[in-house]
Amino acid sequence: MEQELVNLQNQAKEQLATIENDGQLEEFRIRFLGRKSQFSSIMKGLAEVAKEDKPRLGQMANSIKKEIEALYDTKRQEISSNSSASSADNNGIDLTLPGRKPQTGKLHPVTQIMNEVCSIFESLGFSVAEGPDVEHDHYNFEALNIPAHHPARDMHDTFYVSDSILLRTHTSPMQARIMETRQPPLRVIAPGKVYRCDSDITHTPMFHQVEGFLVDRDVSFADLKGVLTIFTQKMFDRDLELRFRPSFFPFTEPSAEVDIACVMCGGSGCRVCKRTGWLEILGSGMIDPEVFKMVGYDPEVYSGFAFGLGIERIAMLKYGIDDIRLYYENDLRFLSQF
Ligand code: FA5
Repeated sequence: MEQELVNLQNQAKEQLATIENDGQLEEFRIRFLGRKSQFSSIMKGLAEVAKEDKPRLGQMANSIKKEIEALYDTKRQEISSNSSASSADNNGIDLTLPGRKPQTGKLHPVTQIMNEVCSIFESLGFSVAEGPDVEHDHYNFEALNIPAHHPARDMHDTFYVSDSILLRTHTSPMQARIMETRQPPLRVIAPGKVYRCDSDITHTPMFHQVEGFLVDRDVSFADLKGVLTIFTQKMFDRDLELRFRPSFFPFTEPSAEVDIACVMCGGSGCRVCKRTGWLEILGSGMIDPEVFKMVGYDPEVYSGFAFGLGIERIAMLKYGIDDIRLYYENDLRFLSQF
């Protein structure tokens, strides 16, 4: 048995010297240190040896086992430090480092609100239409009962591309574009970008509107109020006070601007609502008979309402943002909150 133990010790040392990787090391462990190893079977034979030889042989077996275990540990550390050194050598790239999590993009808060507004109107039976940002003077003004030199053009600080082409100042041209190609009954929304030379905490030079219009027989101002009330309830998930304030648009008669109670201050007055307690979110009214005549509808037969919502204003109220310009500064610290 003594000789068997010495042979095993020598074999283990020889094999360990040839080991270069984890797989070979594991084979070694099974062969020399595992439960079914040669060493285990020698230890089982210890029961058979003479009583007086047992303590000596037992001690010898134990010290050889400890030596093999120590050699095994040293080899294991050697292999693992070699493998991390070679990772660091990989063209300066440490393949053992954990990966960086890619940032996932999100929809811009204004786009999120735009989508929400559109889906509320779609749920009310409105279909969606889109038109050009670069528009003819005719659709932006003339077809909406705003002839050249009409003072109402002053309300729109316009970016002109040429004498008759401009960046549309509102989405209302879509009323004329749709009505001249379709017949009533109509229930349409037209979302999109609009442009005005305008900038302060509640105005940006480019902003988004959603035009909405409904044309049928016997449409009244009560229908307009009903649709807009349902819209604000759905948009803000509660009953918010709405204020219809008489106003003027050449393409609607009567006309009203609609304010909602300022969500920022609860109506007590703050810098966003200019201390009035109200914030204007849209312009609206009953479509003027002159507009119907220009697209060939009979104003004696048909009536309709229209409105134009400011999407950034809604986004300000919904998220409690007190400066509209934040939406367009592209600061990720701001945008990633939505
Ligand atoms: C119009 O643009 C009309 N076309 C609305 C309309 C449509 C009236 C249909 C009648 C029938 P107004 O200029 O008020 O109206 O703009 C509508 C909304 O756009 C405003 O209530 C406001 O919410 C938003 N808005 C106007 N100017 C700006 C701006 N510079 N920046 C951000 N939002 C604006």
